[in-house]
Amino acid sequence: MLSTFNRRHLLGIRELAADEITHLLDTAETFRDISKREIKKVPALRGRTVINLFFEPSTRTRTSFEIAAKRLSADAVNVSISTSSVSKGETLLDTARNLEAMSPDCIVIRHSMAGAPQHLARMCNSPIINAGDGSHEHPTQALLDALTIREFKGKIKGLKVAILGDILHSRVARSNVYLLTKLGATVSVSGPGTLVPPEFGELVDSGLQIEKRLEDAIDGADVVMILRIQRERQDAAFFPSMREYAVHYGLNSRHLERAAPDAIVMHPGPMNRGVEISSEVADGGRSLILDQVANGVAVRMAVLYLLAGGSHSEPEESEPQKKQKRERKVDKG
Ligand code: CP
Repeated sequence: MLSTFNRRHLLGIRELAADEITHLLDTAETFRDISKREIKKVPALRGRTVINLFFEPSTRTRTSFEIAAKRLSADAVNVSISTSSVSKGETLLDTARNLEAMSPDCIVIRHSMAGAPQHLARMCNSPIINAGDGSHEHPTQALLDALTIREFKGKIKGLKVAILGDILHSRVARSNVYLLTKLGATVSVSGPGTLVPPEFGELVDSGLQIEKRLEDAIDGADVVMILRIQRERQDAAFFPSMREYAVHYGLNSRHLERAAPDAIVMHPGPMNRGVEISSEVADGGRSLILDQVANGVAVRMAVLYLLAGGSHSEPEESEPQKKQKRERKVDKG
């Protein structure tokens, strides 16, 4: 089916080539159907162990990595940081090395410090998957966003994607800007001037536009992606008040009138309803927020499959896929 993915770790999107990203998305597509079956399990990673090491809260990412591992028949172990020896002062590296001594096939890490997964990748032997490091990158979120865009728009190349809100603190924004521009989309970012990272200026030649006005970023957009205000990462005042933020930067259905008529709305979650997004938009007909979550399982299955040792065999085909293949054979005579 697919060529192999030759990387040992998934640390970020920035270092990936466009064909590696496409390969990950194509692999995820082959897994999507498994979650719709009655028996949601294939033996692709039987006998493998995946450790989830989350130093920051998570609902979607941690759960979907666990579900993804289990759907591939791997054993998934979630380390609870609050009850682990981290609370006694054990370092990140010592924690990882001790877990590694128990022979996992892959470690998934989320940490508030940018660069923590890269540090472990240098110092440990296990494949490391970045599940979000500080404000740096969240590669599997960008992959699931791209999978969702491909599912509903049929392509990524040539689309206009508006990314709005707290760009500065968002690892989701960084990973998405890298991914979408590599795959040929035009990305317009907009938010309060204090929340747009200065280093994004360097990406203007690679398909990124920085718009002062939210409306200009949304004009004609095929995809409107709204980001959460990350209060936990703001140690200074970046805007006067949440109320003012909601008035000037909160996405409502009036804003969406400027987007393409068939524009889709995305948000990585968790949402601050009534702040960066109105409930009317979040729950409206264009919203794909829960489709993003569903695609997160397929993307994480693909990443685990490719990094934790499943890359030399194809995932088991679903019944509809087998039927389609049989029908094609009959057609060919
Ligand atoms: N989108 C995302 O990373 O959500 P969680 O923080 O719930 O994992």
